[in-house]
Amino acid sequence: MNRFITFEGVDGCGKSTQLRRAAAWLRDLGHDVVTTFEPGDTPLGREIRTLLLAGEFVPLPETELLLFLADRAQHVREVIRPALASDAWVLCDRYSDSTLAYQLAARKLGEGAANLSQMLRFAECGVSSSLTLWFDVAVDEAMRRMNKRAESGEKATRLDDEAASFHQRVSVAFKQQYHDESQRIVRIDAEQGMDDVEAQVANILKQRFGLAV
Ligand SMILES: Nc1ncnc2c1ncn2[C@@H]1O[C@H](COP(=O)(O)OP(=O)(O)OP(=O)(O)O)[C@@H](O)[C@H]1O
Ligand SMILES: [Mg+2]
Repeated sequence: MNRFITFEGVDGCGKSTQLRRAAAWLRDLGHDVVTTFEPGDTPLGREIRTLLLAGEFVPLPETELLLFLADRAQHVREVIRPALASDAWVLCDRYSDSTLAYQLAARKLGEGAANLSQMLRFAECGVSSSLTLWFDVAVDEAMRRMNKRAESGEKATRLDDEAASFHQRVSVAFKQQYHDESQRIVRIDAEQGMDDVEAQVANILKQRFGLAV
């Protein structure tokens, strides 16, 4: 089993906070950890990220999907696969489940198109996560957190600014994926405070990978 762990959930659920925390204590235990994110954690990916989230032009849904997949293929081959080959843990902020939730479900691109899941696999270049942590939080609470974060100066992206109904569809899609793949995807109760959420993550990693934490 690889040690490729993806962090998923609606915008503002606490993924990045928990990814930083998990990386910190794994490193304290002496493990090699690579932290990364999508979209945009390669030199080419940074350009794709700008096109996707902050560019002058708004991509059509199909274009948006293809740009996310292009970013992923680059990311897997340039960052994720080499890191796993060097025996590091790879903690990745968003991966294919986000594409399923945002582009295929919320943008409704997936309706009646079975080959889209093959496209997702194609972009992964053979690298699927062995564990996905789904940070389950009500959309209202996630939005409150995002608004608070915005007050402290962090800029929203184009997808953050989508209507509440869009974020609701994303949320429903994550729940469905969890039901469909409950072996790989583990639900984290992300309504709790940051320390409690961190403890849940630690427990799961301990169980799955036999860590002493
Ligand atoms: N358990 C929590 N309780 C309360 N606030 C939290 C919790 N976890 C994170 N936050 C705060 O909520 C905001 C969003 O958290 P974070 O940036 O980690 O979310 P995210 O899932 O990475 O969001 P995005 O998808 O937009 O990148 C931050 O200001 C963070 O400090
Ligand atoms: Mg984040």
